[in-house]
Amino acid sequence: MSTVILQVLERDLPELPPRAVDIIEELRDPNHIDRDVLVKLINECGSLGDVVLRVMNSGYLSQVRRARSIEDAILLVGLESTRNIILGVLLKSLFPKRHILESFNRNDFLRHCLGTAVAAQMLYAASGLNAEHDPYKLVTYGFIHDIGVLALDYCMPVTLNRIFKIATEENMPILEAEVKVLGRYTHSVIGEWVCNKWQLPEDICNVVKHHHAPRRAVVNKQELVLIHIADTISFNYYETLMESTHIYGMDPSLVRSLGLSMKEIREVEAALPARVERAMEVLDVEYLDGVRLF
Ligand SMILES: [Fe+2]
Ligand SMILES: [Fe+2]
Repeated sequence: MSTVILQVLERDLPELPPRAVDIIEELRDPNHIDRDVLVKLINECGSLGDVVLRVMNSGYLSQVRRARSIEDAILLVGLESTRNIILGVLLKSLFPKRHILESFNRNDFLRHCLGTAVAAQMLYAASGLNAEHDPYKLVTYGFIHDIGVLALDYCMPVTLNRIFKIATEENMPILEAEVKVLGRYTHSVIGEWVCNKWQLPEDICNVVKHHHAPRRAVVNKQELVLIHIADTISFNYYETLMESTHIYGMDPSLVRSLGLSMKEIREVEAALPARVERAMEVLDVEYLDGVRLF
């Protein structure tokens, strides 16, 4: 099975469009971005700038005045936040909605991605972490951490559908059904493969590779723990959307390492569904899911 998965991915995962390669290269290191080069690249890339401004002007994360251009956006929220929004929009657009199959509900999957971002922000606000995290980065990580699932949806929709079907029919947690179908080529491994093939920035690869095993991360460990716990909370909500009662546990020592208590985790869990629905509306996630930039 493993060789077949890699062969199909190798055959069906599209090459990155040259314009996307140039933008990703410019954004690779947040400390070495040439503002003028970036603005020029974005302006040459169809509607990318408009979509980025739309996300920024949604007021989802900050109530700054409306940005009218990418230059304006950089002035308002800074280069690093702008980088993170661009990466989120760009990478998400590479997996446009294509297949509608019976068992994999793409909208619920988007709820999981957004739920991971929302939970990460709530945990971050409640934690004792210092203020170095960029909230836009957490949105991008939320949307991109399961890039392996997006790649499966794009390249192997029937296989992805089978995972969800088995989970429902055999009353099995989704992650267990995934191992049953894919073996060791789970979505984290597939995601890592995509990151390597497209040579995505290191911070994105780190989240994609380690979000289910944050202790294995070598860099940005605390950020990985935050995303991992947010992902677990959001995944438990995802299971309920599929009318499953499976609950994934979380390691209390990881929770404590962020300066959080289990009471605070329960509070995030309770608030999450309403916050996700609100964020789905404000960010117009269904619109974002349909954007084709290339
Ligand atoms: Fe995942
Ligand atoms: Fe996830």
